[in-house]
Amino acid sequence: MAATALLLLLGLHLLHASAPLTQVSPVITLEQLLWVSGRVIGAVDTFRIPLITYTPRGQLLAFAEARKHSASDLGAKFIATRRSHDGGYTWGPTSFIIDDGSTQDGLNLGAVVVDDETRNIFLVYTLCAHYLQCGVSSVMVTNSSDDGVTWSPPRNISQEIGTQMFAPGPGYGIQKKIAPKKGRLIVCGHGTLEEDGIFCLLSDDHGNSWRRGGSLEGLPFKQQKRLGDFSPDECQPYELPDGSVVINARNQYFYHCRCRIVAASTDACDTIPLESVRFDEGLPDPAVAAGALYKGGVTYFVNPANQAHRVNLTLRWSFTSGDSWEQNSIQIWPGPSGYSSLTTLSRHLEDNENIYIIYEKGRRDITESIALVKVNVYGSI
Ligand SMILES: *[C@@H]1O[C@H](CO)[C@@H](O)[C@H](O)[C@H]1NC(C)=O
Ligand SMILES: *[C@@H]1O[C@H](CO)[C@@H](O)[C@H](O)[C@H]1NC(C)=O
Ligand SMILES: *[C@@H]1O[C@H](CO)[C@@H](O)[C@H](O)[C@H]1NC(C)=O
Repeated sequence: MAATALLLLLGLHLLHASAPLTQVSPVITLEQLLWVSGRVIGAVDTFRIPLITYTPRGQLLAFAEARKHSASDLGAKFIATRRSHDGGYTWGPTSFIIDDGSTQDGLNLGAVVVDDETRNIFLVYTLCAHYLQCGVSSVMVTNSSDDGVTWSPPRNISQEIGTQMFAPGPGYGIQKKIAPKKGRLIVCGHGTLEEDGIFCLLSDDHGNSWRRGGSLEGLPFKQQKRLGDFSPDECQPYELPDGSVVINARNQYFYHCRCRIVAASTDACDTIPLESVRFDEGLPDPAVAAGALYKGGVTYFVNPANQAHRVNLTLRWSFTSGDSWEQNSIQIWPGPSGYSSLTTLSRHLEDNENIYIIYEKGRRDITESIALVKVNVYGSI
């Protein structure tokens, strides 16, 4: 009896580990709010810009900007974090790990990247992204070697990469798992709106030093943009099994379409060739930071699927590495929904079934709360 149950369990596990793509049928199994705006948590006015990652030891870490006094992108902030050790069912209390004081042009998140070889987690954020009453912009990195319990004093990597504004993510950075450049850490982001375009920071020594990698410039080059210009902006990279890196980016001024810009790099982001750029009409988008993830033969994408408004948060999936998207999709929230990010525990826990989505959610406004959704990829089987 027990042996049969065990066999059944094993069978189910193996089934999922190698489940045919036809069994992919995502279902939401859990949703909860991680942060609520309105001065009810640590007197924080507004939580925005959610990030989520797995940790080296199989926990989940969520982060957000805790905007102290208003909902503005400017102003003073904390970085807030919460942790779950049980696959998203329960979450520990909020800790504020970074405090920028009372500065006028405070910190902006950001990207989180896990080095699976050294078990270090890096959190990358920007100070003075808007050059408001501060001369230069700085990119700061803090790291944690204990799954996010303690964080190092932030290090200013602008000494290495220069002081040109770089706004990472928002989302996660990647570590190359496949050649070329296996082990490289890659964090992609964008520059100022005037000089917009995406570029990536690279580290080939496990985060000890960083340098600028490839870029994809906006046009007209280094000039003020207007509606219809080419301006790839906030972006999310992910690696495909052939070792290429896909970068899914916000199309800030709706060049060609009200949809996502997708670029690719075959040299681990040393370059992001213009020839690789395409416009994914299958991913309508209102110009927003979106989430993308590749896992077990499936590419997942989440955004507010609407060409004009930040509403209708929708999860899509693709069996063709994002060349085409399945007809089915799931609506996660019909109402106001903004920035989002994705992660999975599968690298460490053999959890091949679940993905996690964190997103800005509201009834009237996207700034009301930050929600966590757990999705079982194989639905009810
Ligand atoms: C991580 O933080 C520790 C503690 O501050 C520091 O000694 C170490 O150099 C940092 N590691 C990296 C790769 O930045
Ligand atoms: C970071 O380093 C850059 C380059 O040296 C410097 O201009 C900037 O003031 C530093 N920022 C901070 C916050 O220390
Ligand atoms: C929500 O997204 C779905 C899937 O793309 C689409 O069919 C629907 O029209 C969208 N609804 C709104 C209000 O944007």
